[in-house]
Amino acid sequence: MENKFNDVQNVVKRPAADDLAGIVISQRYRLERLLHIGKQESGGNFGVGYIATDLQDGNQRFVKVVDFRKRLHSLHELREILEWAEFEILMHKACLRMSKVVRMVAHGELAFLEEGSSESYNFICVVMELGQGDIKNHVDYAPEGSAYWKLWVLREISLAVVQMERASLAHNDIKPSNVIRFASEGDRHSIKLGDVGRAITKSGSGPFDDWIWAGDPRHKPLETLFGYQEQEWQDRSTAADAYMLGNLVCFLFAGASMTERVVSSLPPNLRPGTFVGSYRDIIDVIRHAWNMTLDKHIIPTIPEQSRTELSSIIRWLTDPDPVLRGEPAARRAGTLGLDRVHSKLERMARRAQVFERLTSASR
Ligand SMILES: Nc1ncnc2c1ncn2[C@@H]1O[C@H](COP(=O)(O)OP(=O)(O)O)[C@@H](O)[C@H]1O
Ligand SMILES: [Mg+2]
Repeated sequence: MENKFNDVQNVVKRPAADDLAGIVISQRYRLERLLHIGKQESGGNFGVGYIATDLQDGNQRFVKVVDFRKRLHSLHELREILEWAEFEILMHKACLRMSKVVRMVAHGELAFLEEGSSESYNFICVVMELGQGDIKNHVDYAPEGSAYWKLWVLREISLAVVQMERASLAHNDIKPSNVIRFASEGDRHSIKLGDVGRAITKSGSGPFDDWIWAGDPRHKPLETLFGYQEQEWQDRSTAADAYMLGNLVCFLFAGASMTERVVSSLPPNLRPGTFVGSYRDIIDVIRHAWNMTLDKHIIPTIPEQSRTELSSIIRWLTDPDPVLRGEPAARRAGTLGLDRVHSKLERMARRAQVFERLTSASR
């Protein structure tokens, strides 16, 4: 099943990672056009994304090319990027059978050997199923915009988190640009979670397992902003996924990041970077800022028919205390209950769909 290639091509001058359009990898994947250039600031791995055609079956693919050699000026950095890119592939393998995680179809190296040179220059390539893009610039914030679509996105991503949790993994970089849209099947939207490169493993074998935070700093859970982490894997990693899922609710309805809103409503001397005391000491102040943010900026943006239920879900998912995060009954039984949150979101989405059909029919 594993499709791994090792392609060496002879060239006069090697092309740059963002100049590979037209290249056919392993006589199979023709890179058609550049889609995105990764920035490390956002937690990415220097990946450059292309749309490609699989010449064997005609399918369109997404190919991420990682130029790990670019950092050759530091052996340490080189090793690090190489390790991260390899880990991303390993995580894709671990997630191959998860219906809600973007699927890898092949991976390997693409190397260029310049005329007269004895050493090739190689890129790591990950070939994935191609989606239609991420949800970042795809959200309709008009009050009459579809709540069904938003709830369905949350239904899909909550399932992705549950699937990863069952495999003792946490994604830990859930954010709008890592939520990928696929072609709808009838009126069912298909959404998947992408970019598994920053995942955390329960086994402790991943490169980011003992980092306080490896994902995008703009989407940090509140506790990690202050450098705080629980000891138990679930309270640290699954709880961070839960927070980011809750933050995604805020993005979809309010167009806001809970993290940014909460920080900006804290007194300046208690903000991260300034306050050096312990998280537990100021958790009540943070809870107050969090409650205000929810009441003032987030909850009013939720359409009335979903407001009560969805605001409970946001509260469960983003509780400032990672130990209290999750569906309350499940928490008392010792888990975060994200499967329950998923079922609830599915029911809410279906109800919103019926509601929207009825109201559009009566318009
Ligand atoms: N399978 C895919 N299909 C279509 N677009 C994708 C796919 N995967 C990623 N993208 C697009 O490329 C961007 C970067 O991909 P990602 O894997 O998140 O890399 P990075 O490590 O640079 O963040 C995404 O934000 C999304 O817009
Ligand atoms: Mg990304």
